[in-house]
Amino acid sequence: MSEPTVPAAPQASLGASSVPKLELRDLYISYTDRAGRTVQAVENANLTVTNKPGVGELAVFLGPSGCGKSTILKAVAGLLTPDSGDVFLDGQKVEGTGRDRGMVFQSYTSFAWRTVRKNVEYGLELQGVEAGERKKQADAIIEQVGLKDFADSLPRQLSGGMKQRVAIARTLINKPKLVLMDEPFGALDPGTRWGMQTLILDVLQKQDNTVLFVTHDVEEAVFLADVIFVLSARPARVLHRIEVPYFESRDIQVKRTNQFKGVVDHVMELLHTSKVQGNFRVGL
Ligand SMILES: Nc1ncnc2c1ncn2[C@@H]1O[C@H](COP(=O)(O)OP(=O)(O)O)[C@@H](O)[C@H]1O
Ligand SMILES: [Mg+2]
Repeated sequence: MSEPTVPAAPQASLGASSVPKLELRDLYISYTDRAGRTVQAVENANLTVTNKPGVGELAVFLGPSGCGKSTILKAVAGLLTPDSGDVFLDGQKVEGTGRDRGMVFQSYTSFAWRTVRKNVEYGLELQGVEAGERKKQADAIIEQVGLKDFADSLPRQLSGGMKQRVAIARTLINKPKLVLMDEPFGALDPGTRWGMQTLILDVLQKQDNTVLFVTHDVEEAVFLADVIFVLSARPARVLHRIEVPYFESRDIQVKRTNQFKGVVDHVMELLHTSKVQGNFRVGL
């Protein structure tokens, strides 16, 4: 069914049209509800995310609540199999879960009985990395996410934002090709949420990751994204692909600029004209 594809060279040369990082091809996904009815969650979703070599790329799925965002993300993660259509990562068809993809959910997913450091080390433990090396790598990432002073704390001693930093560090330590983030800041208060948005961009720059980020917050999408995919109400289809212009700074202050507000207005207008109705929000 899928054509044989050559994986992209690890360091694709600039300008070479390499294999896309991620491709969804004619994706259809349905559920059967408790009454036995079919719920079509995703219908003919197509998209391509191309990575600029050497730079992290952040793609956002923007769509109303219940449209099928998490469903698409689960298919990319390999947690569910589409009814038809395919997901390709670096030209390889996704079949099941794998360490090349890491997921961060809205709810916190740390082990309650492990310290922050032990939580972050977990993925390396599974890989059989020896203790000294685990600690070294974990401490480096813990510092990047701003938790240096909390490495020996337990999750219950942390705020929501800090727990989410642990979740991000736990994912990044596996060096996934693709980081999948499903409304990761949805449960956080406004100030914390802004801090986490900045952190993501900061960590991204250092790690050269590709991130697929799901949100129904238009401002969050514009602030974070290199590219936004606007999804329809359920069943989810990709309606628009918006390249977000490069803002001079991705400091939180940029949200007050006319350039930023202009892009937010543009996205709102697109949602309006394509009649994407549902629960969206703009900032806080
Ligand atoms: N396990 C399931 N069984 C039946 N319906 C489901 C299941 N999971 C999700 N759905 C339905 O599929 C649609 C899309 O869900 P989801 O992908 O979670 O949306 P989103 O993440 O955009 O809020 C919703 O109508 C939801 O109720
Ligand atoms: Mg969801």
